[in-house]
Amino acid sequence: MTAEIIYGSKIAEEIREKLKADVKELEKKNIHPGLTVVIVGDNPASKSYVKFKQRACEKAGIRSSVIELPEETTQGQLLQHVNQLNEDSSVHGILVQLPLPAQIDEKVIIESIAPEKDVDGFHPYNIGRLQTNQDAFVPCTPLGILEMIKKSNIPIKGKHVVVVGRSNIVGKPVGQLFLNENATVTYCHSATENLVHITRQADILIVAVGKAKMIGKDAVKEGAVVVDVGNNYLSDGSLAGDVDFESVKETASYITPVPKGVGPMTITMLLQNTLKAAKQISS
Ligand code: GUN
Repeated sequence: MTAEIIYGSKIAEEIREKLKADVKELEKKNIHPGLTVVIVGDNPASKSYVKFKQRACEKAGIRSSVIELPEETTQGQLLQHVNQLNEDSSVHGILVQLPLPAQIDEKVIIESIAPEKDVDGFHPYNIGRLQTNQDAFVPCTPLGILEMIKKSNIPIKGKHVVVVGRSNIVGKPVGQLFLNENATVTYCHSATENLVHITRQADILIVAVGKAKMIGKDAVKEGAVVVDVGNNYLSDGSLAGDVDFESVKETASYITPVPKGVGPMTITMLLQNTLKAAKQISS
């Protein structure tokens, strides 16, 4: 079997066209969706992610601004910035880029963001609402993955979804999201024994580990759907996923590539969440 490739880049483009039209409709009602991103320090990867986010907002007609703070910013100073943004009615979405420098406790900052402006979906309020299957801001990468699967008309209900990785940003929420869609969900992580034995049972295998090409053909059942969240830079500067694309595409029925797979969907869901926040706050 040779897998059909799910290009997130293509699906993302279609959704962004629709979002652009939605922004125009909101503008007619004098609602001007706005996202503010806060970045602390000079992490090059974070800086480039923030640039992508800004560019995507611009193209969609969403106002965006970036607050750049120095590496030595204290937790108190960052909290003050977040509090100001919470109070600012022209700001609908707040995103504090992670990771933060060691002197700042990420959990404290995330909990300081007003839940109704938490477009990352990281606040415990939104996590709790996702857990209890209520309307919530859902983290962008998990939401993008679900959207890709749905847009590809892949059935979810009753299927065995195996998630490799248990981060708060991707692994945990993506499993929850698929559970809410009536999948049977198994989580695997760094302490899992017999990993391959479990991944081979997956109808839908979602890999979010951060280890280049760690999932090979032997770890995938014939006909499985494989979603690769990895974004690993190799020593030659090229980008690789967590899945060995070339070998796994011979076994899978569907597979997402890296790049042009999950990445573009993540940013698109950030735009979607910002519009959702603008609509809810302004209604
Ligand atoms: N760092 C890496 N991914 C993300 C993300 O989705 N949101 C934030 N705030 N920081 C990140």
